[in-house]
Amino acid sequence: MLSPAPEDLARAADLLRAGEIVAVPTETVYGLAADALNPAALAKVFAAKGRPLVDPLIVHVADVADIARVAQVDPRLARLAAFWPGPLTVVLRRLPVVPDLVTAGRDTVAVRVPAHPAFRALLRAAGPLAAPSANPFGYVSPTIAAHVRDSLGERCPWIIDGGPCAHGVESTILDLSEPSCARLLRPGPIPREALESALGTPIEVVLRSAPADQAQLAPGMLDRHYSPRTSIRLFARGAEPIIPPGRVALLLQSRRATTPGGAEVFLLSESGDPAEAARALFALLRQLDRRGLDLIMAELADESGVGVALNDRLRRAAAR
Ligand code: TXA
Ligand code: MG
Repeated sequence: MLSPAPEDLARAADLLRAGEIVAVPTETVYGLAADALNPAALAKVFAAKGRPLVDPLIVHVADVADIARVAQVDPRLARLAAFWPGPLTVVLRRLPVVPDLVTAGRDTVAVRVPAHPAFRALLRAAGPLAAPSANPFGYVSPTIAAHVRDSLGERCPWIIDGGPCAHGVESTILDLSEPSCARLLRPGPIPREALESALGTPIEVVLRSAPADQAQLAPGMLDRHYSPRTSIRLFARGAEPIIPPGRVALLLQSRRATTPGGAEVFLLSESGDPAEAARALFALLRQLDRRGLDLIMAELADESGVGVALNDRLRRAAAR
């Protein structure tokens, strides 16, 4: 484990420049970083995660101006500047300098300017860095350094511990690669409505269950993703769940006056704050997954704001 202190960050920057992989804290989830312009380093990321090469990576840069190092800038970016640094990823036309491994061979690249101070310092020293979430492919994303250690182990020798992630769900992904339209590829901490009012245009939401031939658009959109081993069954916000026999955990969005018997109750948020629930979700799923339960019954959030991202992750976690 490395700390976010300057000497440790300098060491991590040296490792990254030498083509090693380092797990890094971000404000969304922990990432597994590598030099975005070094194919040998990128190959280590795919190997450590067991990630298929068809799934492209997000390139992280220190400042908005650095987007121009890897992508063709789009005039609409000026309208989005207020969201950076922060949990927004945009898909743009790539520049030739970006290796095919990053983009899975397509002519677009996903770019983000993250806010976590330790990661930004690292990007200034060793960016641009490609970083997928630091979890084995298909499993729940890490929101604390120990999650990375527990699930990647030896496959990721260096982890910078920057504390718990502020948002707890992955960035919102907005596709601007076509000049005439804007498409939401993944809901995240920044709601679609906020992006629409900044852009002044509607944003098309790409279908959640993409047909198999479209799945490549954002493979993170494959139905089964973020999945714990334990089965998950979802129910609507406020509904009374019927608890089946067996070892069952009841995962609620907020505290209730009464809860049905036959299940141990876990709260995503005491008060029903969706931002707090999003922050807690992945850690709680990991914790419940270690209990050898028969079933997790999870309450969906209200479908607005970050609740949209929360529900998206819950639905994918429940998909089998
Ligand atoms: O918050 C985040 O975005 C985190 C932190 C580490 O920055 N990263 C993250 O990366 O969630 P990952 O690899 O788990 O998810 C990236 C998603 C994938 O679903 C991938 O398919 C999509 O971004 N993506 C990457 N490049 C793309 C492209 N050129 N076109 C469409 N989708 C792309
Ligand atoms: Mg991921």
